[in-house]
Amino acid sequence: MAHQWRGVIREYFDRLDVDASTPIITLGEGGTPLIEAPALAKLVGAAQVYLKVEGMNPTGSFKDRGMTMAVSKAVGHGAKAVICASTGNTSASAAAYAAAAGIASVVLVPEGKIALGKLSQAVAHKAQILQVQGNFDDCLDLSRGLADNYPVHLVNSVNPDRIEGQKTAAFEVVERLDRAPDIHVLPVGNAGNYSAYFKGYLEEFNRGIIKTVPKMWGFQADGSAPFVYGTPVKNPDTIATAIRIGNPASYELALSARECSLGMFGSVTDAEILWMHRFLSQEVGVFVEPSSATGAAGLLKQSRAGEVPADSVIVVTVTGHGLKDPMWALKTESGEEIVPTIVPNNAAEVAERLGLA
Ligand code: F0G
Repeated sequence: MAHQWRGVIREYFDRLDVDASTPIITLGEGGTPLIEAPALAKLVGAAQVYLKVEGMNPTGSFKDRGMTMAVSKAVGHGAKAVICASTGNTSASAAAYAAAAGIASVVLVPEGKIALGKLSQAVAHKAQILQVQGNFDDCLDLSRGLADNYPVHLVNSVNPDRIEGQKTAAFEVVERLDRAPDIHVLPVGNAGNYSAYFKGYLEEFNRGIIKTVPKMWGFQADGSAPFVYGTPVKNPDTIATAIRIGNPASYELALSARECSLGMFGSVTDAEILWMHRFLSQEVGVFVEPSSATGAAGLLKQSRAGEVPADSVIVVTVTGHGLKDPMWALKTESGEEIVPTIVPNNAAEVAERLGLA
């Protein structure tokens, strides 16, 4: 039989904190495409730019890599329920993996601030969903308190099993390129993923597989940029709801990853995010959710500041699928709704409308 990708725990068994007694709860996550994006390379003036397309994971975001680990370990410890705070993707993933494991999931989300596609996933996978009158940071405080005092297992990225699973994306990049990129770019909310990639690259470096680690470049939205301001943001605000986080859970880990990698944090406006969201769809052919365009938008800003060396090989992680939050594609740059033209069932008229006649 042809080999099928077996999910990150089986593919990287020896490099994760698991053993033969760990039950493996998998939906076949990981093994996502690393695609070359010449249009983006040209735009930013780099030798090569690749996108690591994490929207191709089973629930449509990178969260599945960490969730297979977190839920497997939770089940191994006898958990009957998992809990998380989420801006949407973590809850979709937790709900799906809990369903696969046959255990319950509870998700706390900021009221009115998660994209419809993500909410529908949590509902579909039968999570108990509570909309909290507060932001993500409040939801995380609540989840931690509940997990400390009640029989529910926390699967946010403050749980180290999540970071362990997510580091596998860096392994895949190295396997595909046979080297480390010069720069690795990604959007940052809690900075769990930023920290996880760096951990993955560092492990590859320590094994002697790569000779350098990439500079880690992380980008936030201007209205929600605690790493740039150096202090938590009380009322974070951005259209990129996935990264609307004012008090990042992995703050210290990420600061050390930035330092060790000679990396940086920056921020971009919502308009810059939406411009790049459109560019990736229209010029590269990859449809991502707006938050996922934040990394590439930051890369462009760095390029305009003269900070992108012309000979560099760059990987940009695009974290979530465009169908999660599709409404942004249905608006023009100035915010008007796009409604496809209606035509009669008549070839001559259709040809005329298409400008073919
Ligand atoms: N991109 C997307 C699409 C996300 O959903 C998130 C985080 C990030 C980037 C940032 O990753 O937090 O590791 O720095 N989403 C979390 C959630 C917070 O609840 O789904 P990070």
